This record gives sequence, structure tokens and C-alpha cells, in this order.
Amino acid sequence: MTDLKNKNAVVTGGTRGIGKAISLGLAESGAHVYALYARDRKNAEAFEDEAKQRGLKITTIRGDLAHDETFRESVDQVNKACETIDILVHSAASGVHKKAMDLTDRHMHWTFEINYFVIHKLTRELIGKMKQGGRIIGVTSPGGTHVIPYYTAVGASKGALESLFRHYAREFAPEGIIVNLVCPGMVMTDAIKAFPGIQERASETEEYTPTGKLTVPEQVAALILFLCSDPASQIVGQTIVIDGGKGLPA
Ligand SMILES: NC(=O)c1ccc[n+]([C@@H]2O[C@H](COP(=O)([O-])OP(=O)(O)OC[C@H]3O[C@@H](n4cnc5c(N)ncnc54)[C@H](OP(=O)(O)O)[C@@H]3O)[C@@H](O)[C@H]2O)c1
Repeated sequence: MTDLKNKNAVVTGGTRGIGKAISLGLAESGAHVYALYARDRKNAEAFEDEAKQRGLKITTIRGDLAHDETFRESVDQVNKACETIDILVHSAASGVHKKAMDLTDRHMHWTFEINYFVIHKLTRELIGKMKQGGRIIGVTSPGGTHVIPYYTAVGASKGALESLFRHYAREFAPEGIIVNLVCPGMVMTDAIKAFPGIQERASETEEYTPTGKLTVPEQVAALILFLCSDPASQIVGQTIVIDGGKGLPA
């Protein structure tokens, strides 16, 4: 098991879905986790209380990262709480799901703001607190490299993110800060439960997945924990797919 005692981790979107499992996994390995989220205070407070009862160190920080003022407040809170940061996981994402020609400039800006620009802004703000052994991990999706219906905006933002992280990886590795991405296949979280026809799509995905199963948040968290371990420090600038083999070429 990866030992993260005395380490600080920042997880965006860390109170819900995949990010919540990542926060829990890191905290269970001993890290103090600062879980950032946007809106759902009730959910975040319940998560923090539950974690406290289990003796886990999880501090939730509320702030819409896509707005300058609340972005600044969130960064200030992280800076105040952490002298150093060892792990930075960017899991927060959002986006508009429409056919390409129905996407307005506003839709594209909104999607790229949280899925791409915020990630660069936040990394730039916090990298000064990271040192040798640090980890920066992004969460991308199959839409970053594959065509998915109504996924143009999010897919394009994820493709841009993957390129950004490959450039980060090369630039930061000499400083001992290791950058990678994880790419889960379909995971049943609140984010996708609202998709029209999701049950049929989930059944179809299971059918075409060699393991016959969808990925669950805890499996993504376990992969991230491995990437945080010392033996994984030679994995640099990669996108690790965790999808039960669904994306394998036929
Ligand atoms: N689910 C999938 O099938 C799947 C597959 C591949 C990749 N992914 C990726 O995995 C990551 C997590 O997805 P998920 O399904 O777990 O999503 P989710 O359940 O919707 O959780 C998203 C989290 O991001 C936060 N967030 C959204 N916009 C934000 C903003 N402007 N500022 C701050 N925080 C914001 C949300 O905060 P609130 O709770 O306050 O709203 C929430 O905690 C994403 O990067 C997604 O693209 C998901």
C-alpha cells in the first residue's frame, strides 16, 4: 500500500463521483486531503463529517474554480492550510453536450474554462509548493482521443488537457515532479446518470467491454494511488486507460 503519511493532497472535484473516491483513497493512505468543490455544500459537509468519524483527514473547500473571485478564495484557503503540496489531482470537470454545430462560443468557453484553463491556472498557482517526489495527475476521458456523440466540447477540452500534461511532464520531471493522466471508461456517477438514454448506453458499454463490467470510482482511485507510489516514478507523461479493455482496437 502507498504510504502517504505527512503528505498533503489537493483534489479538485474531490467531494463527488470519481474525485470523492480519489480523496478517500489518498486519505486512507495517510494523506491530508483538501477536496475542492463548486456548489454542493450539504454533500461536502456530510462527506467531511463521515471522513472525520473514520479518522481520515479530509478538509473540503468550496469555490467555483471557473470564476476569478471564487478561484482566488479557494487558492488562498489552500495556501493558508498547506505549507507544501505533494499531490495535485485535477478531477473537476463540466461541459455542454450538444452536436458540434449547435455549440456556441459561450458553450465552448464554459467547457474549456473548467476542463482546461482552470487546470493550468491552478497548477501555476500551486506548483511553487511542490517539490521532489510531487505528483500532478489529470483525469481525462475516452472522448479526448475518440469520437463520442454529443461530446465535441468536452472531448476537445480533454484532448487539449492531454497535450498540456505531456508538456508539463517533460518540463517538471527534472524537478522530480511527475505528471500523468488517468483515463477511465464509463463510470456511473451523478455526472453521467443525467445523460439521456444512459441505461441503454451503460448496458451497451458493458456488452462491448472485454471484462463485461463498467469501471468503478474505487478502481480509478487505486490507479492514482499507484501513480503516487515510488515505484511508479518512472511513468512520466502517460495517459493510463482504465476501461476493462473497452477502447482496445477491434
Ligand atoms: N463518469 C464518467 O463516466 C467519466 C469517464 C471518464 C472520465 N471522467 C472524468 O472524471 C472526472 C470526474 O467525473 P465525475 O463523473 O466523477 O463527475 P461529477 O460526479 O460530476 O463530479 C464533478 C466534481 O467537479 C466539481 N466541479 C464541477 N465544476 C466545478 C467548478 N467550476 N469549480 C469547482 N469544482 C467543480 C463538482 O463540484 P459540485 O459537487 O459542487 O458540483 C464535483 O465535485 C472528470 O474529469 C470527468 O471528465 C468521468
